[in-house]
Formats: sequence, C-alpha cells, structure tokens
Amino acid sequence: MYLRQLFSLLIVGVIIYFIVRLATRKKREAKYLNRLEVERLENERKLLEYQDRQRERRELEEERQALAQKGNYFNFIFQQCRLMTNDTEKQTPYYVAEQEISRDEKIIVFSSLVPLSEWYDKKELLEEYLELKIIKIEQEKKNMTDTSLSRTIKLTVTSGELPNMIEWHDDYLNKNANILNIGVGYRGIIGMNLEIYPHTFIAGTSGSGKTNLLKCLIHQSLIKNYDVVLIDFKRGVSFTEFENQVKIYYEYETARNALKELVAETIKRLDAFREHRVDTLRKYNAIPNITKFKRIIIFIDELAELMTVNDKKMASDFYDSIETLTRISRAVGINLIMATQRVDSTIISGQIKSNVILTQIWCIVITSLRSNPFSFSGL
Ligand SMILES: Nc1ncnc2c1ncn2[C@@H]1O[C@H](COP(=O)(O)OP(=O)(O)O)[C@@H](O)[C@H]1O
Ligand SMILES: [Mg+2]
Repeated sequence: MYLRQLFSLLIVGVIIYFIVRLATRKKREAKYLNRLEVERLENERKLLEYQDRQRERRELEEERQALAQKGNYFNFIFQQCRLMTNDTEKQTPYYVAEQEISRDEKIIVFSSLVPLSEWYDKKELLEEYLELKIIKIEQEKKNMTDTSLSRTIKLTVTSGELPNMIEWHDDYLNKNANILNIGVGYRGIIGMNLEIYPHTFIAGTSGSGKTNLLKCLIHQSLIKNYDVVLIDFKRGVSFTEFENQVKIYYEYETARNALKELVAETIKRLDAFREHRVDTLRKYNAIPNITKFKRIIIFIDELAELMTVNDKKMASDFYDSIETLTRISRAVGINLIMATQRVDSTIISGQIKSNVILTQIWCIVITSLRSNPFSFSGL
C-alpha cells in the first residue's frame, strides 16, 4: 500500500519533470539561437570592418602611387623645361595636389624653391610640355612662422581649347553702352571699355585679322548708335557693307579735313564742358534740356599709310591731328581705334609714344596663339 503510493508519486514527479523540461527546453533553444545570431552578426561586422580597412589601405596605396607617378611626371617636365634651382642640387619643384575648379579648369599646387620670375619665364615652355594653357601663376603668401625656403606655387590651368573661329553674333553685344567686345579668351568674352581705354592700336601682321576686327567693332558701334568715321586708303573696299551708315574717307585730302574737323569738334565739346562745369561725356549728357553729344569713333585701317605719306605737310597734319585727338579727346567721347602692322617709331613718332601710348592708348595684339577675335562676315 505504502509502496504503491510512493510509486504513483514517483510517476507524477517524473511526469512533472518532463513537462518542466519540455517547457524550459524551448526557452533554452530560443536563447541558444539568439546567441548564434548575435555571434553571426558580430562576425559579419568584423568581416566588414576588415574589408573596409583593406580597401582603405589599398586606396591609400593607389593614391600614393598616383601621387608618385604625378610627381615623377612633373619632375620630368620641369627637368625638360629646366625649371629648377640654380645651385648644384638642381632641385625641381614638387607636386603637392590638384583641385578641379570647373569642367575645364584646375589648380595644380607645387612646393617650389624656384623663384616666381622663373616660372613666368618658362610659362610658354611649360604650356607646351604640359599640353595645357596656364591662365594664372600665383605664389602663396608666406606664413610668418614658416622658415623653410620653399614656396607654394599655384598654377591655374585649362585644357579647354578655344574654338578656331567664333562667328560674330549680336548676342555677343555688350550691354554696357561704353564697352565693345573684341573676342573670346580663356576667361570668357573680352571687351574694351572706351571710358577706361579711350584709344586703341590693333597690331598684327598682314592677314592676322585687323580689318576683320575693325569691321566687327564698327558693326557694334553702329548698333550702339555711335557716330562712326572710317579712314581707309584701300578705298574702303573691305568696308562696303557699311558705306551707307559710315563716313568713309579714302583720299588723303578729305581724310586730313575730316581729322581737322574732329579736332575742332573736340575743342567745341571741351568748351561746352567748361561752360557747364562737367568733365565727362556721361555728366554732360545727364544735364537736362541739353543737346547730347554722341560718342564718335574714328577707325583708321593701316595707320602707316597715313603717317608715311610722301607729302611732308600732309604727313605732319595727320600726325598733329592724331596726336591732339589722343591727348585731349578722351573725356569728350571721341575715340581713335587704329589698325597697324607695327607699333614702332617710324609709324608712331616719339611724342605719341611717350605721351600717349602709356596713358591713353592700349594695344590689342593679334597673334594666332594668344587671342581669338570674333570673325565678322557681315550680318
Ligand atoms: N577672327 C577671325 N576668325 C577667322 N578668320 C578670320 C578672323 N579674322 C580674320 N580672318 C580671316 O583672315 C583673313 C585676313 O583678315 P584681315 O582682317 O583682312 O587681316 P588684316 O587686315 O590683318 O590683313 C581674312 O580672309 C579673314 O576672313
Ligand atoms: Mg587689313
């Protein structure tokens, strides 16, 4: 009897044991699975970290190699151009970094013991070797605490080629009433401001495009409603499209008179300025109820023809008028734009050169390499 009770108690105990075990087993299993998952994630994270480190190391190595390659490349170029220190060490500048600043332009930075003037001297050679156009060479200001001899040089370069021909289109017209546009350079459209640079030489060899540029400027002047006077001893044959709107002079005698009249006009304007106590065309034209003075531009093609005429009196008259105009017509809105093959003393005598060129005349030099004036074929 006692034994039977004990036995059934044992059975119940065993059953309870199994029930409890079954219940906790599920829990243990869940815990175990959970641990496995955590471990798996941890391993995955470690693997990713490892891969990241590897990639970083590879990239760093690639960068180092690229830098070394770039360094070698520039080193080679500097040696070719002999851009190096003067001493026995012959140290070339070394490449530091570069940065894109637009689609076509970047800044390349060098550490250099070579003086800045040397960089300027070798600019063209460098352009040739690098096959890039150097827009700017800058030397970074030195930090007061920096005692090293080397300086940071920054080259702004462009690989973009200027187009061979930029046909003039009236969209190129400058909105400023006093600016005529002459062409396109690496920094965009280039204009000439008649208020700042009243008189201009356009210099270039035969066939370089002087007449073409004059035509382009005449066309713009007419749109801007300037009065245009043209002196061309090739009897105006290159300018036939303007003959109805422009006073063209192609005889010495009429040209001489025209220039004399323009000197008289200048004097008349200066007197009017004095009377109204103003000193610029802009201020004069702003006076209410006054007859405004129009800007007058005198274009002279082949200035040498005019200055070297055999008739001595004629030549000296031309010279006097041009000299007077360049000297005094600046403020009154009368401008000279003169094309010439040479800007030298047989064409422009000492006085115009010394008194006027430096202060009053600026010079556009047309060469096939450095400029790209608009092409004008008449619209
Ligand atoms: N900006 C230009 N782009 C393309 N062709 C040009 C340009 N300027 C001039 N030309 C061409 O070059 C030739 C010579 O130009 P021209 O103006 O007569 O030169 P110049 O007066 O200096 O002797 C012309 O046939 C002209 O069509
Ligand atoms: Mg010409």
